[in-house]
Amino acid sequence: MLPTIELQDDVIVMIDQRKLPAQELYVRCRNAQEVAKAIRTMVIRGAPAIGVAAAMGIALGMKKSSARGTRQYAVEFQKTCDLMAATRPTAVNLFWAIDRMKRAFAEGAQAGESPEELSVRLEREARRIHDEDVANCRAMGAYGAEMVPDRARVLTHCNAGALATAGYGSALGVIRAAVEQGKTIAVFADETRPFLQGARLTAWELVRDGINTTVITESMAGPLMRAGEIDLVVVGADRIAANGDTANKIGTYTVAVLAHEHGLPFYVAAPLSTIDLSTPDGDRIPIEERDQREVSHLGSSRLTPEGAKIRNPAFDVTPHRYIAGIITEKGIFRPPYIETLGAAFESALA
Ligand code: MRU
Repeated sequence: MLPTIELQDDVIVMIDQRKLPAQELYVRCRNAQEVAKAIRTMVIRGAPAIGVAAAMGIALGMKKSSARGTRQYAVEFQKTCDLMAATRPTAVNLFWAIDRMKRAFAEGAQAGESPEELSVRLEREARRIHDEDVANCRAMGAYGAEMVPDRARVLTHCNAGALATAGYGSALGVIRAAVEQGKTIAVFADETRPFLQGARLTAWELVRDGINTTVITESMAGPLMRAGEIDLVVVGADRIAANGDTANKIGTYTVAVLAHEHGLPFYVAAPLSTIDLSTPDGDRIPIEERDQREVSHLGSSRLTPEGAKIRNPAFDVTPHRYIAGIITEKGIFRPPYIETLGAAFESALA
């Protein structure tokens, strides 16, 4: 399986997703600041992977802390959590992972642990978050694969694969599991402007796994659906509101509307850590606006004329009415999401 991110003794190693597929380079982060920068600059990206990176970054930062005494250590812990929380606003897995680290810290502090003991506890929690994410992807894959018929032609948007998680992937986990069941699957990977997660990362992962992959630009999805060349859509998510409205990479909404128009099922695959019941609907999901340069340039080459204004919202919201099912590690949830997602959490906590 792909090594998306690894917490070693005193360093976090992550594959540099900005460089793929041309170069397979690894970035070594030696402190929390370097991890925060890696998340911001998208060395590592994808909602679950960002959460894992933040948890590991907090664990590493606190392991290397020079704080004297528990009080100073607690102040530094809070600052490190704030640093991670300021990296990217949309993927709720980031805040979910930080909250898990805060709860672990609070339990240790309550038990009167020393900074050294707290640091061991934080590292254990970060590793747990990582391992749980891989297990969740496998479980999502098993549930989701049932929705994918043999010989299906599946469209996916962005990269919701091993690179976007701790391993195996959410949307790509569903595809992988279907292939592991012996089904013949053909994948259409939307290019995903402007960062090209589909063309660069999804295609790279799937080709490495020997899965039949065709890269298309976003604008090709509609005509291919109309021509009967696509059977279903499966995407990942950055945040799912209580009513099922789903924020995912910009362009997902367009794909969902197109799927609806052509009568094709549109599935979202995401762990429960992506569901945010405290956000009632998609209008309340914060949408990250990224650097204009991602749109105006390709590498160092300028694509747009000086003086042209640029917009670069990194995510959009797909209204719940377009979503046929939300595939999670606890099963597939169907509309009305306002009821089924709430119930999912109640039974997960029971
Ligand atoms: O900006 P990115 O690359 O972090 O956006 C990633 C996505 O939108 C993914 O589809 C989403 O995080 C799900 S990853 C399993």
